[in-house]
Amino acid sequence: KKIVILISGGGSNMAAIVRAAQREGWRERHGAAVAAVISNRADAGGLAFAREHRIATEVLDHKQFASREAFDAELASVVDRHQPALVVLAGFMRILTAGFVQRYEGRLLNIHPSLLPAFPGLHTHRRAIEMGCRFSGATVHQVTAELDFGPILEQAVVPVLPDDTPESLAARVLTQEHLIYPRAIARLLATA
Ligand code: GRF
Repeated sequence: KKIVILISGGGSNMAAIVRAAQREGWRERHGAAVAAVISNRADAGGLAFAREHRIATEVLDHKQFASREAFDAELASVVDRHQPALVVLAGFMRILTAGFVQRYEGRLLNIHPSLLPAFPGLHTHRRAIEMGCRFSGATVHQVTAELDFGPILEQAVVPVLPDDTPESLAARVLTQEHLIYPRAIARLLATA
């Protein structure tokens, strides 16, 4: 079973998944491995990590495509080369077309830095602080046509502290993301 991970930036969630795969022996236990890391940005820091771990990398610069549909069509053809059992969005900052989502629905995952269905969209930490939330967290969910909305696979809760800034809350949430994303994937692999 192949896993393809899509990133746009630092790729810390991708790295956590790669490390969990190695540490927990996903290849031996589930016949699963991370086959490729694909980024829509050539400057994504996560690409260096993937290359160091001898994982195939691909860059598809969305600015070189005339439309969202054209980008997604090329992305799907690159993804399909690996015939993935799972397509994992990890800090992938592109909204995918309904056509792309439908193609992978049921095996397309995302992680979002809030306790969905609260705070879909961007700037989740600032919004949670501004609302006076006492708790926030992260959510791993199946991707559906509706942005940041789909069956929830894992969640983690963190306290929001009185002196929190969006940055301090983001760091606390990110630590939990690195725990729940590998856990969600391992559970899917074990039941697949
Ligand atoms: C993080 O804010 C995370 O919550 C969201 O994307 C951002 C970067 O993640 N999923 P990563 O370090 O690129 O995995």
